[in-house]
Amino acid sequence: MAKLWAGFTSGETDGTADDFNSSIRFDSRMYAHDIRGSMAHASMLASRGIISEAEAESLISGLRGILADIESGSLAFDPGCEDIHMFVEQVLTERIGDVGKKLHTARSRNDQVALDVRMYLRDEAAEIKALIKELITVIADTAEKYAGAIMPGYTHLQRAQPVTFGHHLSAYAFMLLRDLGRLEDAEKRLNLSPIGCCALAGTTYDTDRFLEASSLGFDGIVMNSIDGVSDRDFCLEYMAAFSVLMMHLSRLSEEVILWSSREFGYITLSDAYTTGSSIMPQKKNPDMAELVRGKTGRVYGDLFALLTALKGLPLAYNKDMQEDKEALFDAIDTVKMCLKVFAPMLAAMEVHTDKMLAAAREGFINATDLADYLTVKGVPFRSAYKTAGQIVARCVKDGKVLETLPLETYREYSDLFEADLYEAVDLGACVQRRISEGGTSVPSVIKQIKYIREMLSK
Ligand code: ARG
Repeated sequence: MAKLWAGFTSGETDGTADDFNSSIRFDSRMYAHDIRGSMAHASMLASRGIISEAEAESLISGLRGILADIESGSLAFDPGCEDIHMFVEQVLTERIGDVGKKLHTARSRNDQVALDVRMYLRDEAAEIKALIKELITVIADTAEKYAGAIMPGYTHLQRAQPVTFGHHLSAYAFMLLRDLGRLEDAEKRLNLSPIGCCALAGTTYDTDRFLEASSLGFDGIVMNSIDGVSDRDFCLEYMAAFSVLMMHLSRLSEEVILWSSREFGYITLSDAYTTGSSIMPQKKNPDMAELVRGKTGRVYGDLFALLTALKGLPLAYNKDMQEDKEALFDAIDTVKMCLKVFAPMLAAMEVHTDKMLAAAREGFINATDLADYLTVKGVPFRSAYKTAGQIVARCVKDGKVLETLPLETYREYSDLFEADLYEAVDLGACVQRRISEGGTSVPSVIKQIKYIREMLSK
């Protein structure tokens, strides 16, 4: 196929080189953004008298036709075209004739591709934000339902102190709120238009970059044309934010996997989000959660692929930068898929509060409260801690828990123990006493959930 850029060279490239060089098989997904950008460009050119109004109208209606035909399926992408930008321009010129050749006045593919990627990512990020919000809502609803359900809180995956399931789940909602915040921060730097930077040096035409930027919904323009065509920080920032988001989903996945095991038995996942084994009839595998955990590495990999591609590049545009798209698109697709499966998986899980409570009763997770009991009576905390530890050891030896060890036995360790110690080690009371901000008492957790909902409605 004849190259649009044939002129100085023959444009007759080797077929394998063409395939290697071509990006249309993956950048065609930006067709709508490319076309929208070109329409705005045609309008701007006309507004400055660089092309006539009639020419702009012809370009815009031609572009509109191309958009409609791609969308209806009547116009297929030509794999022989180098990229989506070349494809659109070529079809336009075939359809409207020589006027089509005016579209590329005062721009280059270098600023055009930077524009398209920014616009595409902006739309995808909006979808991802909506999906994160849906997930936070599911988490907040579940947390509210189980705000009083006692479970062991863990450190080192060892039973540590009593918390509620609602408290534990809310922690994830806060992580996801920060993920939303990171995407919002990144948007400030994404939402500046590079169009008009041209190849690298700007242009001799009297263009209006601000007009073109605002007509495409940008807050402003990239101020340095060399920076505008060589910057992919906005991709990196989003991919870094996606990586942190995936890390959060992966941690929750790990817990879902543990909780759904017979060893924990805290939850049962819905059949809709599990799979069976081809050989073991009893199996119910948490594949969705495992895949989210597994795909986290893939999103980190996408970030690293682009960081590495960029690290040695001299200014300004280099073809290496074409590698931005597959990494970015893969990260976007992966994050969206994971979020789409995660929210309904959580919403549909069954929670076994009895199992959580039973586990909470077995791990001496009220030992801190026993130490606090003595501390309130004037024993220095470190000494109280030691006594409580000795009592736990005694329970283990006698096959008791703190709630069932007789008062006489307690008094062997300190005569400060009275019958009210059983109130101190009651798990429900242990939870309710943790009234500090952010703590596990039901009112504290309800307050946290209220805050989460407020942040969501902003
Ligand atoms: N397909 C190219 C990319 O994705 C578009 C920009 C090409 N520019 C160039 N000067 N060859 O980066």
